[in-house]
Amino acid sequence: MGDYQRLYIGGEWIVPVQGGVFETIDPSDESILAQVAAATSEDIDLAVCAARKAFDEGDWPRWTGAQRAQVLRRIADGIRTRQDALAAIEVRDNGKPLPEALWDIADTAGCFDFYAGLAESSALHHEQAISLSDGRFNSSVIKEPVGVVAAIIPWNFPMLMASWKVAPALAAGCTVVLKPSELTPLTALELARIADQAGLPAGVLNVVTGLGREAGAPLAEHPDVDKIAFTGSVPTGRKIMQAAAAEIKNISLELGGKSPFVIFADSDLDAAVEWILFGIFWNQGQVCSATSRVLVERALYPALLERLIAVTEEIQIGQGFTEGVKLGPLVSQGQLDKVLEAVAAGQQEGARLVSGGTRPAHLEKGYYFTPAIFADVPEQSSIWREEIFGPVVCLRTFDTEAEAIRLANDSPFGLAAAVMSRDIPRCERVARRFRAGIVWVNCSQPTFVEAPWGGYKQSGIGRELGEWGYNNYLETKQITRYDGGRWGWYLDSAG
Ligand code: NAI
Ligand code: MG
Repeated sequence: MGDYQRLYIGGEWIVPVQGGVFETIDPSDESILAQVAAATSEDIDLAVCAARKAFDEGDWPRWTGAQRAQVLRRIADGIRTRQDALAAIEVRDNGKPLPEALWDIADTAGCFDFYAGLAESSALHHEQAISLSDGRFNSSVIKEPVGVVAAIIPWNFPMLMASWKVAPALAAGCTVVLKPSELTPLTALELARIADQAGLPAGVLNVVTGLGREAGAPLAEHPDVDKIAFTGSVPTGRKIMQAAAAEIKNISLELGGKSPFVIFADSDLDAAVEWILFGIFWNQGQVCSATSRVLVERALYPALLERLIAVTEEIQIGQGFTEGVKLGPLVSQGQLDKVLEAVAAGQQEGARLVSGGTRPAHLEKGYYFTPAIFADVPEQSSIWREEIFGPVVCLRTFDTEAEAIRLANDSPFGLAAAVMSRDIPRCERVARRFRAGIVWVNCSQPTFVEAPWGGYKQSGIGRELGEWGYNNYLETKQITRYDGGRWGWYLDSAG
């Protein structure tokens, strides 16, 4: 592993003011992967000042979109040039299987390319004329970068989540302070190296590694931050909102989920099994949009359950570099404990554990867990209602379309939802009834940079990706001009 003991601030690699480090762990064998710079409020202050200066005095916000696009494309190229090394870091820091890490890195580069394209086409920057009811005035609307962005991201897709915020923010002309999760901080520092080599001006992107309380909180609270973009848990999202309230900062939040997957009895059995498994077991189920609640029409339930159990028990669990592995370790001891507790709670609450849910006997070290299937899960149980964020799927039956919709929407979350049936009009009908920001029909999870991403209800505020993700980083300004001769409100009555 390289040197990760410095923070990237103002275009320089700096030892934290207090000189602290923390350890990041390889979850496959519990070994220490790297010592990483631990930022505290002093470093956050330096990073925000650098970003502020680059925004207020630097060229970046004033460059054309096409000029910024050139740098973004060089960042995308830099990521692609190093894709194997970056994917390997992701496997070791997060635990995910290598093929999935390679998808992440390809998508990370793709995200920079996509926003380069939007910055270049500049349709979103074009001055838009508005016709006014009073012909003596004319108005136009322009979009401008929102300012200094604090990007705080989780550990489940470390580099990809960085790109979802950094790429649109930079494309829009913002400057950024990025704080990765302390569980997976390495690829964010690699991104800083790549951006630096791509010629991104000093201070435009700053990367500060550190703990949530010591580095994340002071970043969210910093008065010179204009916008906070956060992805993570609901409790932390609530703290971010509170921090934002002090200066009425612009925020976007992408939080948890407990997403439903409604399977009608006319579905193809293999397709149902495949997408249910992909919906909850890829990335070890540590996916905000995971379809963790599966509702199956009664007639299909017994056959589906049987096949689901059979295929699940064949899933190869192991270290992410091992050929054929589809399920790596969970990210941390804490996450493993949380998942094991959820399984115990589910059993106490009367759900039937029909597969997995334990630590695999053949793997002594590492945060491994056998993928769990719960059948006949009670509607009011905690495992049906709360986000587990691990490879645990909960199933229950339904009898009518109306019941399926009611059960699907009965959740404090509203990130994603999926429906499967051969009856396409029915799928379209159900898709419109889901109270969720992302709906999949006859699949679950495929995610595209062009399409908006975000949730209803407690799953968050705002949308990432696509044009919507770009607008996240833009302010809207009206310029209204008067060309109507003497106004005279005061002067004419003053005599
Ligand atoms: P978290 O939400 O606490 O952490 C996310 C990010 O926020 C990290 O960079 C962290 O350092 C930072 N952070 C923590 N406290 C902060 C504070 N007070 N102010 C500012 N930043 C702060 O998530 P954590 O602890 O890693 O995982 C806990 C649970 O959250 C998981 O078990 C899972 O259920 C859920 N989660 C959901 C995610 C999603 O994408 N919806 C992603 C990660 C976790
Ligand atoms: Mg790690």
